Amino acid sequence: MKEKGYSSRKAIPSLRSVYKDAFDIGAAVNLTTIETQKGLLTEHFGSITPENEMKFERLHPQEEVYTFEAADRIVEFATNHGLKVRGHTLVWHNQTPDWVFTGKDGKPADGETLLARMKAHIDTVVGRYKGAVYGWDVVNEAIEDKSDLYLRESRWLEQIGESFIAKAFEFAHEADPKAVLFYNDYNECDPIKRDKIIRLLKTLKERDVPVHGVGLQGHWNLHHPSLDDIRSAIEKYAALGLQIQVTELDISVFEYNDRRTDLGAPTESMLERQAQLYEQVFRLFREYKDVITSVTFWGAADDYTWLDDFPVRGRKNWPFVFDASHKPKDSFWKIAEWKLPEEAWI
Ligand code: GLA
Repeated sequence: MKEKGYSSRKAIPSLRSVYKDAFDIGAAVNLTTIETQKGLLTEHFGSITPENEMKFERLHPQEEVYTFEAADRIVEFATNHGLKVRGHTLVWHNQTPDWVFTGKDGKPADGETLLARMKAHIDTVVGRYKGAVYGWDVVNEAIEDKSDLYLRESRWLEQIGESFIAKAFEFAHEADPKAVLFYNDYNECDPIKRDKIIRLLKTLKERDVPVHGVGLQGHWNLHHPSLDDIRSAIEKYAALGLQIQVTELDISVFEYNDRRTDLGAPTESMLERQAQLYEQVFRLFREYKDVITSVTFWGAADDYTWLDDFPVRGRKNWPFVFDASHKPKDSFWKIAEWKLPEEAWI
């Protein structure tokens, strides 16, 4: 009989190895976690994504200034430990400095200037990490959440027009023809937003824009989205003939709209529900392993996640399969033991 929590288990299988014939298992990292979570990262993960260190504002704070030190250290960590690197992200409405959008006269830059800056940024960044970064989230979150609008209102859109998306992919492809290029977004399983993402991807493909994959961020929680919506989304994205990557997976134990600050630690039933959900979504991911090439968590263990400060500052959300002391949770066992023979256990 298996004990609750499988606490009698001595050995822990490596997630990366368990999934080696299915897809890469990834984690978002930063300069702190490559130290504090080094053991976990190198044992269980096969791919890393810099959490913030490759964003525009971090790499290119002023027109003539590039700051690569932090990103370089993460790439070096990956190289030293045989991990792949996903690049994140080239063109986004957030975490992009104002200078990019501003003309010499202080007014909004014209479309031509903005495109030239986008190209210079992409050439330099993608060029620098050619061969070390195998794929890029080229455009992040360009679709609007509100149901009656298609594209998100952003300075990229206002100042260049819709073609900013295709251009970003073309520049990235020119800079590294071997890189796998993704469109990445959140609320990706919401049927209305999903269909808009699909509309965008179909348009890009019809125009022969070099887009190779769709990134499903996967910021989920115990209540949302439904498994049915996740399944339909994966089915529909898979039908596009693009590869799918889950790029920022976390399953918070709290609902997004619940902004109470005093929720405390998760209850037993929350952790059980989380384990059940992880089991269900990974079963679904395995069903689609021919199109899903990577599943990246937006972190590695519950000691650190952006959700510690979002949507409620200072409130933890315990979204991962490893707990705050890096021990496997029930969620871990639910996704790790699906194919392990009993003899694998001591
Ligand atoms: C989005 C971005 C990520 C990150 C998360 C929150 O999903 O793509 O880079 O900023 O928000 O941490």
